[in-house]
Amino acid sequence: MTSRKSVYVTRAIPSETIEELRAHFDVEVNPEDRALSRDELKERLRGRDAAITLLTDTIDGEVLDAAGPQLRVVANYAVGFNNFDLAAATRRGVVLTNTPGVLDDATATHTMTLLLATARRIAESDAFVRQGRWQGWAPMTFVGLDVDRQTLGIAGLGRIGRNVARKARGFDMNIIYADMHRDADFEAETGARHVDKQTLLRESDFLTLHVPLLPETHHYIGADELRAMKKTAVLINASRGPVVDEAALVEALKAGEIWGAGLDVFEDEPALAPGLAELPNVVVVPHIASATPQTRLAMGRIAATNIIDVLHGRAPGTCVNPDVLKVTA
Ligand SMILES: NC(=O)c1ccc[n+]([C@@H]2O[C@H](COP(=O)([O-])OP(=O)(O)OC[C@H]3O[C@@H](n4cnc5c(N)ncnc54)[C@H](O)[C@@H]3O)[C@@H](O)[C@H]2O)c1
Repeated sequence: MTSRKSVYVTRAIPSETIEELRAHFDVEVNPEDRALSRDELKERLRGRDAAITLLTDTIDGEVLDAAGPQLRVVANYAVGFNNFDLAAATRRGVVLTNTPGVLDDATATHTMTLLLATARRIAESDAFVRQGRWQGWAPMTFVGLDVDRQTLGIAGLGRIGRNVARKARGFDMNIIYADMHRDADFEAETGARHVDKQTLLRESDFLTLHVPLLPETHHYIGADELRAMKKTAVLINASRGPVVDEAALVEALKAGEIWGAGLDVFEDEPALAPGLAELPNVVVVPHIASATPQTRLAMGRIAATNIIDVLHGRAPGTCVNPDVLKVTA
């Protein structure tokens, strides 16, 4: 009898995913609802054939070596995969996968939620009511920003950026976008305009970030970019924290260089840059853009299917280091 392959899941995810994997493999799940330390990750992955990991798990050469040469596949429970060292995995013949597509609606809806909440000062005014400070209707209380027919700038017109644009069209927003790829069909569909980064900064009333975290997009928004934006502009970030220089953002908000910010992600999660949480003109939420039941289930289904495929000798649907498939083919 051949022994069953071993899969480790670094943090509890929907039980349906675990059951699906258990039909094929021995599966162990981190019993504690917290991220593993690097040493724990190395120790728990030792001897495994596959793992489901989170964006908080750094998978580099050292971790892969600690896991051992039998490791075939690491499936990230996320579309972003900046926690993966692709070259290190490819060299070791380890297949890496992500969960694209299934979280576009949830993440785009959340982006619009942050945009609307920031523009209409929802967090600030919710606290005001709860604190018993409301004295009744007043014409000049919590006057926010208009959203309808304003210009929405999108940095990174990929799956999520396009989805945000379509939702924003419901508010008759004018769409401009910066991306190294132009999408003529999308422009025809939405009336969106492709612009360079400086134009994006200068013309956006709302600027939303949907680039992946790469060396080139680290601090895509820093002090210079914030100064180039309108004083009435709002910055929305539901991509990855380090895409924005958070200390520079705090300074820009304090100095009134931009009007406000809605943030799902932070540079050093779960810590916030000093001073950020004290600012009234920001909405801050704990990295929950994809947190809906259907999305979380769908992410689990993709991760499980990728592991089942690779451990059964098939190519996975959503590989992020496809060169490895040539090597192992
Ligand atoms: N907050 C969350 O919970 C959450 C949820 C889902 C996704 N995300 C993040 O959103 C990112 C985008 O996801 P996606 O599925 O839309 O990815 P995608 O690959 O479909 O789109 C990314 C787009 O960014 C563009 N791009 C890359 N570098 C750029 C640059 N320097 N300047 C301008 N454009 C650039 C690409 O050409 C592409 O069109 C993910 O990488 C992930 O980090 C966050």
